[in-house]
Amino acid sequence: MAFVSLAPGQMPGNPFEMIGKEWMLIAAGDRTGCNAMTAAWGALGEIWNKPVSFLFVRPQRYTYQLLERCGGYSLCFFGEENRPMMQYMGTASGRSEDKIAGAGLTLAFEDGVPYFEQARLVLICRKLYRQDLEEGCFVDRQTLDQSYPLRDFHRMYVGEVTRVLLRR
Ligand SMILES: Cc1cc2nc3c(=O)[nH]c(=O)nc-3n(C[C@H](O)[C@H](O)[C@H](O)COP(=O)(O)O)c2cc1C
Repeated sequence: MAFVSLAPGQMPGNPFEMIGKEWMLIAAGDRTGCNAMTAAWGALGEIWNKPVSFLFVRPQRYTYQLLERCGGYSLCFFGEENRPMMQYMGTASGRSEDKIAGAGLTLAFEDGVPYFEQARLVLICRKLYRQDLEEGCFVDRQTLDQSYPLRDFHRMYVGEVTRVLLRR
């Protein structure tokens, strides 16, 4: 296998850089159909005595439908040479084309959760919680107005990180 399995606490890297600067692919679906999208908003941390990821996904995304349908998802991190692929996965929609084939990505499954062979690091996650962001919950009005002028709020997902796969 091209990956070694690590405990979440052994994951290398800085999550601020990994998510916010390098970006990640959120992959969701099952053997009947998969899709993935680029995400630059999210978090890694701890809650309910579990290592978790937080995602923020707008309902317009095709990936949202798969996140809703399936019990798990993966977060896939790539090297800088994959930036054009990340741009493509973050602008095209799986609703109108097969993005996985279009990007030349090779699909694999771990515990029934899709991920990509080309990734340098993969977090396999089990969905625990979801909730839509709400206008009335924003403490900072500027953040609300800057990020949601159309009030098209994200749905937040919290997933337990069940496996960390690092490329050998
Ligand atoms: C750099 C970058 C970061 C993005 N981050 C997010 C995000 O965190 N949440 C989100 O809902 N969409 C985000 N997007 C937008 C989706 O990736 C984009 O709408 C994508 O085309 C959705 O694909 P899908 O319809 O196949 O799911 C981001 C796009 C880019 C380019």
